[in-house]
This record gives sequence, C-alpha cells and structure tokens, in this order.
Amino acid sequence: MGFAVVCNGRLKDERRAMIFEQVVTGGCLSYLVGCPRTLAGAIIDPENSQIDRYKALAGSHGLNIRYLIDTHTHADHFSASKQLAPMFAATIVMHQSSPAPHASLRLDDDDMLIVGDLRMRALHTPGHTRDSMCLVVEDRVFTGDTLLIGGTGRTDLPTGDPDQLYESLFDKLLALDQTLLVYPAHDYKGRSHSSLAVEIAENPRLQKRDRADFTRMMRELNLTAPMHLTEALRTNMTGGQTVSQMLAEAAAEVPFIGLSELNDRLVSRPNDLLVLDVREESAFRAGHIRGARHLPRGQLELRVNEEIPDPTLRIVVYCEFGKISTLAAATLRRLGYMRATAVDGGMKAWREGGFPIEA
Ligand SMILES: [Fe+2]
Repeated sequence: MGFAVVCNGRLKDERRAMIFEQVVTGGCLSYLVGCPRTLAGAIIDPENSQIDRYKALAGSHGLNIRYLIDTHTHADHFSASKQLAPMFAATIVMHQSSPAPHASLRLDDDDMLIVGDLRMRALHTPGHTRDSMCLVVEDRVFTGDTLLIGGTGRTDLPTGDPDQLYESLFDKLLALDQTLLVYPAHDYKGRSHSSLAVEIAENPRLQKRDRADFTRMMRELNLTAPMHLTEALRTNMTGGQTVSQMLAEAAAEVPFIGLSELNDRLVSRPNDLLVLDVREESAFRAGHIRGARHLPRGQLELRVNEEIPDPTLRIVVYCEFGKISTLAAATLRRLGYMRATAVDGGMKAWREGGFPIEA
C-alpha cells in the first residue's frame, strides 16, 4: 500500500464526455468521476492514504464532490469516506444493507444517483459481501469486488455467499450490455480496466456457468485472510478509527524530541526536564533512561495528579517503540501539561543508539 499512480484524465467517448480519474493504491483501485458541464463529482471506493490526492484531483478539475460511494464493506483496506465527507460536504453512499452507521444515503437495487448530467445506476450484487453494489455510468461499470479482471471477489469473508455471487454475476452483471468497460475495486497486476465482453470470454471463473460448478469452485479456493482483516472490517463497519489514524492524530498534537538532543540535555541541564517512562514495571526495572520517573500508561490518568503536580514542567515521555508515548504525551497535553513532549523513537532505539541506560 501507499504507492500511488494516477492515470487517464479527461475521457471523451462517443456518448458523452466525463471527467475520470483512476487512483491506484497498491492493489486497490478507486475512482473520481465528474460531469464536465456542471462540475458535480463523485468518488468511488476512496482509500485512506489518498485523502490529499482526492482533494488535489477534485481541485484540479474544479469538481464539487457530492457523493462518496463505497461499493461494499471492505475487508482489506480502509475506506476514506468518513474522513472525506466533512471536507467535501459530501454524502456517504452505500447499499441499503451496509452496517456502516455513517452511510447517510442507502441505495436499493436500481436506485440512481444524479451527478450533474451523469446518471449512476446501482445494481445490488451480493456475493462477495451482502452489501455489494456495482455502479453503471455511461460506457462503464464500476464492479467493486463482484467482478475483477480475470477473477471475482472472494466469498469466504463475513457475509460472503457463493450462491449469491453466482446470481449477481450470471443473472445480473453479465446480462448488461457487453460493450461496458469494467473498472474493478482491485487489480494486483497493474491493469486499469477490461470489458464485460472480454471477461465473459476469458475470465476463468466465468467459464463455470453451471451454478453447482461455480459454487464448488468458490468454496474450494482456500484463500489466505487479507492483511488488516479485522481492523478494516471494524473501522469500515463502524466508522471507528484505525490505530494508525489515532496515532497520527495524537502525533499532530504534540512536539517530539530526538534521542541525541534528549541525551545532550540530560548531560548539560538534567534538572530542566522530567523524563517519564510509561512502560510496564518489568521493562522499567530492566533498564531505563537515567533519572526517568516511572508512571505506566495504564495508570497515567489515575496517578498523574499526585505524581506531577506542576503543569509547567517540561515533560519528556518515552515508551518502548515511540507509539504509546505519543498517545501519553497527547493525553498529558489535554490534561493541561502544556510542555509535554514525546521522544522520537523509544527505549529500543535508545538502546540501539548506545545511549546510557540506568538499571
Ligand atoms: Fe472487498
């Protein structure tokens, strides 16, 4: 994840011009579409690490993003819809059966969104998940994880169902105009799109046209679980934060101090600082930064009033890896310790850097 490429740009076809961008994040594909006349736009399956890119792309086309659409509850990446919604003043769209409480517009089969002159028709295509949708716009269909290039979405994750996928594909999606271009939510081989005709002819999974053969094949795939499965489902289903989002928010609230600068200060002016070790007792006993005071993160709020009565102290917080200390420093700042700072790195980096340790 994290590496991004943007392709296409302004698309013209014989039917109608449409503003179109495909944003690639590892194997995840997301899309920005817009009406060139009215400059109304929508983003399909926005991904968490591309928030600045979507804003920049919408700005470069002069688009007003009205809809943020998730084709389904993703199990393998983090949706950015909830974070983007207030930035664009846009509506979050999902299928009627989506568990996400932040989806404010819920579509049924054949419901249509109007995006300027564009008409975006939703097809309910359960199978990969119960809440999967495909979106037909102009000359293309955004297939989510229902149909991939040379593959289909898996059916072994929560709410997946091979029988439903069979019906969604063979009775619904493949019955559409075969000239429609296929833009999926994933491709792991760097391909940007396909067409229904090509998929019907060449996609190995679509060659199993008998229901029993198809469902048996899907049940026997035996795939490994995607990375971040539980965290992605938890956050996408509930609108809650990922751990890294929470850490990034805390990091934005506190300043940091480098290991050498801290070491220099402890040598030259040790009384100017209160160094606070927020690890567990056993870790503290095994070795800590010279002069550090021990107050484990789990007891911080409980004991801070007695332990640190002076809110004007410069407090430098550290932990083992530099993450929990960031949360602890942010908590201290919220409590009014306005000079709380986190160490950039943790005890592990301190040890590896050869800095002095007190046991
Ligand atoms: Fe998916």
